[in-house]
Amino acid sequence: MKSLSILATATLTSAAVLWDGRLNDLESAEDLNKWSWATPVGPYQYYIHGNGPVTEYVEFSPEHKNPNDTASAQGVKITLTDTAYWNGQNMRRTELIPETDAAIASGKVWYHFSISRSATNRPSQAREHQIAFFENHFTELKYGGSGTAADSLRWQVSGQDKWAIAFGDDVWHNIAYEIDFAGGSVGLWHSTGAEPLQEVVAPMSVGASSNGADWHVGVLELPNGNADADEDLFFSGVYIENGAITTDVSGP
Ligand SMILES: *[C@@H]1O[C@H](CO)[C@@H](O)[C@H](O)[C@H]1NC(C)=O
Repeated sequence: MKSLSILATATLTSAAVLWDGRLNDLESAEDLNKWSWATPVGPYQYYIHGNGPVTEYVEFSPEHKNPNDTASAQGVKITLTDTAYWNGQNMRRTELIPETDAAIASGKVWYHFSISRSATNRPSQAREHQIAFFENHFTELKYGGSGTAADSLRWQVSGQDKWAIAFGDDVWHNIAYEIDFAGGSVGLWHSTGAEPLQEVVAPMSVGASSNGADWHVGVLELPNGNADADEDLFFSGVYIENGAITTDVSGP
């Protein structure tokens, strides 16, 4: 009986994946084209991108994941090319959005992803990049922009810097946003490589809100008047859980 009650307690406090964006069931980026507003299939909405084929902006590969994440079969390379302008805007954008009816925007939840870049097609430090953001920007990563001399991957809460770390080439940054949509707070967990996630900023008060379809996994870049060069960012281990945070980079 004793072991049974321990098991029951463990089950109650363990994490549950609400939405899984780890691409293990997708073959190639062309699978994203199966999604449409009329046919909302697969884990991602794909509509924020330039006029080129999906393969110009998105590539899935085992090479593109954090190698220390053994639960993800592959990761995704998100690319900005000189055609990556969405819908007549002057910003380059390649973004994936969770497609799910799960309750990812209520209560206490953790939004997980790992991100890296390489020396090839390195994002310009001279332009502002908005990364893994929500429409109301209560939590997001930023890279570059005018006046940001340091090679900093910054975490912002409602547009204010709260934490930063050197981005670096070929470094996998594992991130979790700890979001309490009910209580109105957001905190940050981080690690690199194979290290377990650690809380780096305790939850702070914020107007956390989302319609459940506005978390942008990818990048929006503000123009700075210079000619466009191709830029790549890599994401893997993308999922959302509730219950308790999973700190292992290989996920629940
Ligand atoms: C993390 O991945 C790298 C690259 O595959 C590997 O060399 C290293 O041993 C891994 N670390 C751990 C703790 O598994």
